[in-house]
Amino acid sequence: MLLEVRHLKKRFGNQVVLDDININLDRGQVLCVLGQSGSGKTVLFRHIIGLLFPDGGEIRLDGQVVSTPTTKPADFEKHRKRFGILFQGAALFDSMDVGENLAFPLREHTHLTTKEISKTIGEALEMVGLREEFKSKMPSELSGGMRSRVGLARAIVMKPEIMLYDEPTSALDPIMTDKINDLIMSLRDRLKMTSIVISHDIGSAYKVADKIAMIHEGKIIFDGTPPEIRSSRNLYVQQFLRGYREKFYAFSEEEKYANPVDISKIKPARPPKKGAAQQNAPLSVPIDIANKKFEMPVRARTGEPPR
Ligand SMILES: Nc1ncnc2c1ncn2[C@@H]1O[C@H](COP(=O)(O)OP(=O)(O)OP(=O)(O)O)[C@@H](O)[C@H]1O
Ligand SMILES: [Mg+2]
Repeated sequence: MLLEVRHLKKRFGNQVVLDDININLDRGQVLCVLGQSGSGKTVLFRHIIGLLFPDGGEIRLDGQVVSTPTTKPADFEKHRKRFGILFQGAALFDSMDVGENLAFPLREHTHLTTKEISKTIGEALEMVGLREEFKSKMPSELSGGMRSRVGLARAIVMKPEIMLYDEPTSALDPIMTDKINDLIMSLRDRLKMTSIVISHDIGSAYKVADKIAMIHEGKIIFDGTPPEIRSSRNLYVQQFLRGYREKFYAFSEEEKYANPVDISKIKPARPPKKGAAQQNAPLSVPIDIANKKFEMPVRARTGEPPR
């Protein structure tokens, strides 16, 4: 096991933020951590990279304990270079241009020549879909999406063993989101890079994740594969997925069917098994609707007859 988070606890004053968090991650896997705003995703992220230390529990890398309540930041220093980090909001050095931002970790941690650094930077920019001309831009001259991509390029120049992304796609348009998702997957497939992606974007999680963990009230309330989360019977998990879906996709459903969809009038595509009718009820909608977007059940509309 590459990464193990065991019984992690963290409080700030009276506020318990993490309350017994457990996560296992194998080399080469992509884990997405989902949760509402304020649920503690960034706090968990900061523990994994050794910027915060727990009040209880521990974190292991390759079976070795690297973080406990008594670990000092200096003790963690040697582990930190195993991680590539994309902070929420990209966190570029504002006084350096893009090229200098990308060169910084290479100058600090490698013995590459100026020419080699320049080549590595060019490759990293290309991977995130930016032309080499961007090297001379200042961060203040970039759009939010471009800043994220520069942040990502800076995180991958070192080809880290474990990449952590905090909301990598939240400032991006759908096309750029897809590109970043493809990049996360290609880093896994080409470099066997292990990734942890913190997000509230379920669409991206379904696409890139080998595993999904959902954090709620300080606990991991779901841990499994994308197909498993879709069929989870946990009420909060369903609310989270459905809330997202209704918010973003309710309209496209109506466009397709011209009239509002009245699920109660549509025959189930698969007859529910005897005795299991009640349990299967929410999923018994035509397959083309059920599979649309994220294969989530469509909630029946009531009191609204079809026109
Ligand atoms: N250094 C800190 N001191 C005190 N409280 C903190 C600190 N860092 C985080 N918190 C609190 O911990 C809780 C979780 O914050 P966190 O940033 O992890 O949320 P999040 O899940 O990343 O949310 P978002 O999706 O909005 O980024 C919040 O209530 C926050 O106020
Ligand atoms: Mg956060």
